[in-house]
Amino acid sequence: MANKAPRTVYACQSCGYQSRKWLGKCPDCGSWNSFVEEREQTAAKSTSSIARSGLRLRESKPVPFTEIEAQDESREITGIEEFDRVLGGGIVPGSLVLIGGEPGIGKSTLLSQVADKLAALYGQVLYVSGEESERQIKLRGERLGINPAGLFLLSETNLENIFSEIERLQPRAVIIDSVQTVFSEKLESAPGSVSQVREVAGQFLLLAKNLTVPVFLIGHVTKEGTIAGPKALEHIVDTVIYFEGERHHNHRILRAAKNRFGAANELGIFEMTGQGLVGVPNPSELFLSERPIGASGSAVVAAMEGTRPMLVEIQALVSSSKFGTGRRTTQGVEPNRVALLVAMLEKRVGFHLSGDDIFVNMVGGISLAEPAVDLGMVAAITSSFRNIPINEHTIVFGEVGLAGEVRATSHAAIRLREAARMGFKRVVMPKNNLTGLPEDDRLEIVGVRSVTDALDALF
Ligand code: TYD
Ligand code: MG
Repeated sequence: MANKAPRTVYACQSCGYQSRKWLGKCPDCGSWNSFVEEREQTAAKSTSSIARSGLRLRESKPVPFTEIEAQDESREITGIEEFDRVLGGGIVPGSLVLIGGEPGIGKSTLLSQVADKLAALYGQVLYVSGEESERQIKLRGERLGINPAGLFLLSETNLENIFSEIERLQPRAVIIDSVQTVFSEKLESAPGSVSQVREVAGQFLLLAKNLTVPVFLIGHVTKEGTIAGPKALEHIVDTVIYFEGERHHNHRILRAAKNRFGAANELGIFEMTGQGLVGVPNPSELFLSERPIGASGSAVVAAMEGTRPMLVEIQALVSSSKFGTGRRTTQGVEPNRVALLVAMLEKRVGFHLSGDDIFVNMVGGISLAEPAVDLGMVAAITSSFRNIPINEHTIVFGEVGLAGEVRATSHAAIRLREAARMGFKRVVMPKNNLTGLPEDDRLEIVGVRSVTDALDALF
């Protein structure tokens, strides 16, 4: 009898796509080798894990729209400014927040610090760890100098047991380190598989909404894709925050990839020290601290990330290729964007770049996808190609179009204020942004309409 045996499906561990057959490449998200055999879940949903743990759920009924009170944004401020900023100005009670990042980047460190603040300010906090023992967490805590009375540690991976403890403790916030280690008894798949991770996240969403308690899920991002990554959860949770950048740098960048309660793309910048993560209030200073002065191929661009202006150095290196066709290698910017700008420079400015290798690098491990950095990339590539340095007091920004035109960007005034604050003297920027700009006698402003105008102004 064929349908007596448990049916299995193959699930992509990166996005959750399911297939009857094993596939080498996921047709949905394009990951390679990401399919793992899982037992198919029967549709009959037994009692939910929450119900079994004894937690009482609120019943929901239809409510007339006119009677709904607008949420009074009662956010809980942790006092860790960079963290509050990424969340959109503090923690929203009842929200489910996913914090993703590569192993060793500082997720547990950050959340231990957050737990400490929350316990000191708002009451009991439960830190559930499936990865480290209570002693290990205590040791880290001592290094971080935290020791609040209201912080409780729980070494547990069984979802139903975790819910029972939450029911007993009634904490004001819950931290799960990590979502991939927690499993529900209801499912037969292994912990860390897509179905388990989704079930766990779904149950915590219910819990967060019903108890109006914020829940933080830590999720590992792995290149191998053997465990289900945070990508598979993005649509379930309210807020997704990723650790960006590299482990080899001391600073850590937090970025809100999705936020139901605030602006996405908001950045928080930290430095990893011997006493944990310390916020960096002035990122421009950090990103420009090691800028080579008088070297060709370096340009400073005034970028906006979220609501925050940031001056970042872009470096480019153009060198003739040993092979016929040049390679384009980028770090922190879209390779396609660089290819497009290079093609534009060939066609509109007349550079011969097809036989050259071109490297473009955002200094400091930050990634910027904002169009206003286009002009910075063009300036850096041209500076390296012509081997002429750009004046160290000059800054650029502006979107570049295929016709070689320089287009207006948002928040010009904020970018200019940041440039002046950091001591820059001259700005090359889109001409269309000039109307209505506040006067600033610290800056000489050059408005340009095209890339050729911009290059004339710079070189
Ligand atoms: P951790 O938070 O354990 O990373 P994750 O949970 O994302 O895997 O942090 C890992 C690194 O941070 C580890 O290599 C040690 C370093 N670290 C510090 O430099 N200073 C500190 O105060 C702490 C607690 C960790
Ligand atoms: Mg950890």
